[in-house]
Amino acid sequence: MSERILVIGGAGFIGSHSVDHMLAEGYAVRVLDDFSTGRRENLPKGHPQLEIIAGSVEDATILQVAFTEVSAVLYLAAQVSVQRSLEDPVQSAEQNIVGFVRVLEQARRYSVRVVYASSAAVYGDPEVLPLQETAPLRPISPYGLEKYSNELYAELFGRLYGLSQLGLRYFNVYGPRQDPRSPYSGVISRFIDQLQNGRPLTVRGDGLQERDFIHVADVARVNLAALRSAVNGVVNVASGRATTIGELAELLIELNLGKGEMQRVLRQSGDIRHSQADVSRMQQVLGRANIPLNRGLRTLLERCSAA
Ligand SMILES: NC(=O)c1ccc[n+]([C@@H]2O[C@H](COP(=O)([O-])OP(=O)(O)OC[C@H]3O[C@@H](n4cnc5c(N)ncnc54)[C@H](O)[C@@H]3O)[C@@H](O)[C@H]2O)c1
Repeated sequence: MSERILVIGGAGFIGSHSVDHMLAEGYAVRVLDDFSTGRRENLPKGHPQLEIIAGSVEDATILQVAFTEVSAVLYLAAQVSVQRSLEDPVQSAEQNIVGFVRVLEQARRYSVRVVYASSAAVYGDPEVLPLQETAPLRPISPYGLEKYSNELYAELFGRLYGLSQLGLRYFNVYGPRQDPRSPYSGVISRFIDQLQNGRPLTVRGDGLQERDFIHVADVARVNLAALRSAVNGVVNVASGRATTIGELAELLIELNLGKGEMQRVLRQSGDIRHSQADVSRMQQVLGRANIPLNRGLRTLLERCSAA
């Protein structure tokens, strides 16, 4: 692979960590981002190997410019909120389906490999755990269905045009730069924000809902490995370990030297109960997640306290 990678959505949470890792590994990077949820401050200032294009994938001219002389594309831009997809499925589909097809079409024209963000949301409520990539796909939100349709489109472009493509089914990603102020942010950034502001950690229902958390630095490494590989299809990206939300809250309070308390609140409808990935395929083709949850949480807490 030659040197320049295009990262669409590179100013966001997962994108900016991926960009940092690519730059550290000596790649040139071009970011295309409309800054709808991403932030300029997430990206290094004045790095000679980093080019930033402010614009949307919806703009055909900008998209074409962005694809010029790149060797691979990491596509992370999306309407990322499950809740918003339920409230406005039309808008969500326009962003998450049509936007992706635009990117695939450019990738086909330029013959470049596409690695794109899918999600554990494609599985819906699982019957058998841990979830293998071959498990039935029964999304329970428009967001999950949009990601599923992305996978079908990518696979079709692979069959029709020989496009090199890989979908990464991210489970629950956490780490620095996840915005706790967003009503849709991950539970870990919300809990840390609550801890630091002396508020109780709000646990929905009985707290026995399970999630499979993976640190964003592990995800950044997997993303680059995916761009460098020639593997097609889909791969789960997760730690392979299930943690209940109650356990997570207890662990955070313990790491916060026992300061903090939990408060039970009403369970949200549509909350998935169990989630745990089978990560054999990821480990085989892209490498393993190295950062255990307690270490990832400790460093995150320290960073937030120092900020
Ligand atoms: N964070 C998670 O735990 C998680 C889990 C599963 C899947 N995902 C998927 O991973 C991807 C990245 O998620 P994230 O958490 O980093 O979200 P994020 O909101 O931080 O990043 C998305 C980025 O895309 C940009 N963007 C949005 N629409 C755009 C457009 N039309 N044109 C150009 N840029 C646009 C935003 O400004 C932002 O920088 C998304 O596709 C998301 O659905 C994330």
